[in-house]
Amino acid sequence: MESELLKKIAAKEHKVAVIGLGYVGLPLAVHLAEAGIDVIGVDIDKQRIEQLKGGHSYILDVPSASYRAVQSRITPTSSYDAVREADVINICVPTPLAKTKDPDISFIIAACQQLKSRLKRGQLVILESTTYPGTTDEIVLPLLAESGLQVGKDYFLAFSPERVDPGNKKFNIKNTPKVVGGITPNCTRVATAFFKSFIDKPVPVSSTRVAEMVKLLENTFRMVNIGLVNELSIMCNLLGVDTWETIDAAATKPFGFLPFYPGPGLGGHCIPVDPYYLSWKLKTLDYIPQFIELAGKINFNMPHHIVERITTGLNSLEKSIKNAKILLLGVSYKENIDDTRESPALDIIELLKQRGAQVSYHDPYVSALEVGSEKLSSCQLTDNLIESCDCVVITTKHDGIDYNNLVDKAKLIIDTRDATRGINSPKVFRL
Ligand SMILES: NC(=O)c1ccc[n+]([C@@H]2O[C@H](COP(=O)([O-])OP(=O)(O)OC[C@H]3O[C@@H](n4cnc5c(N)ncnc54)[C@H](O)[C@@H]3O)[C@@H](O)[C@H]2O)c1
Repeated sequence: MESELLKKIAAKEHKVAVIGLGYVGLPLAVHLAEAGIDVIGVDIDKQRIEQLKGGHSYILDVPSASYRAVQSRITPTSSYDAVREADVINICVPTPLAKTKDPDISFIIAACQQLKSRLKRGQLVILESTTYPGTTDEIVLPLLAESGLQVGKDYFLAFSPERVDPGNKKFNIKNTPKVVGGITPNCTRVATAFFKSFIDKPVPVSSTRVAEMVKLLENTFRMVNIGLVNELSIMCNLLGVDTWETIDAAATKPFGFLPFYPGPGLGGHCIPVDPYYLSWKLKTLDYIPQFIELAGKINFNMPHHIVERITTGLNSLEKSIKNAKILLLGVSYKENIDDTRESPALDIIELLKQRGAQVSYHDPYVSALEVGSEKLSSCQLTDNLIESCDCVVITTKHDGIDYNNLVDKAKLIIDTRDATRGINSPKVFRL
């Protein structure tokens, strides 16, 4: 089985199924097709499948033109039956948190339920969804075993975390090393060979658990360091010290320091979510991971801190937050993308509304937004709008905004992203 699959991969005759065509799955499918590999794309969202059939991409990182250029190699479908034709099956379904911050792996389970009756000898299954250590061997493996096939003998199973960074122009699927760990050594071998067929540097590790843990280390590292600089910004503010100048000067140290920057809180599908997968798993073993809990507390308090800074800023203009006209600039969780999942801007809007403020927003990437039960749409960023607001809050630093003009026209700016760097004005309050 192993040598047959390796031969197919070496000859680039392998067909790949990608399950879940979102921020991770669709770029992966397109990248595979660009490498000359035929892809079956499976998604339960029929609307997305129709869009793809019509040659339209709904993911910002995949322009429709790029999708259309390789469309002949990609078969989008909402039927799992097509996976029978695949040699390799990549699972890229969501792994959100429940309200209680417990992992919700129901999408992985649902995908495996569909796969188990269709699994064939010689296939390689790779889980790419971020999850806690043990998911592949404790959850996926027993489900696939119901097929009657034996792992490492009849089929192969591996975990390989996805490192895609939406909006990153320098690092893409091809030039970002890919960690991969199989259930058995031959699972790791075939999965590594598969990634070698279209990625510069696969990084094999000894087990699925190590591969799962790698992703959680990477994102916990970021979450904890962001928590540290967010607290630094609070301390700097109390001390009357410039946060950004401090970080920039520290970053001149050529060793032993890595700069992180503060912001209005954590956003996206990864950093605010993934560490809690690890935390949850450890709690089942009677261990409470303290760094994650503490960083979480600081980071999730940042929207409250920003609202406090807005209140203080308005006070200096003898204005109350109630009925104040407040404009948020940028509502996606980071610059130059359209993803608003877990964006701290949503929390800030909600907190401001609770205090009776009149909130509007401008975001060139997000035309409409739902906050609680309310629907908002992006306003045009005109001088009139800026001048009519009591306060502008820069929550995301998108390119293409004239920050000089903004400072010129606004009455008060709370800049959470250092977007107004170099512009000295008593109207600007920075984190
Ligand atoms: N977005 C990122 O930047 C990023 C980066 C690294 C890792 N990840 C991880 O990758 C995984 C996928 O994330 P995403 O951002 O692509 O999610 P997404 O929500 O953008 O896309 C997931 C897709 O899966 C589909 N889906 C859901 N259940 C399905 C099922 N049972 N069968 C087939 N399709 C199904 C959905 O319709 C959706 O199109 C998550 O585990 C996430 O943590 C995401």
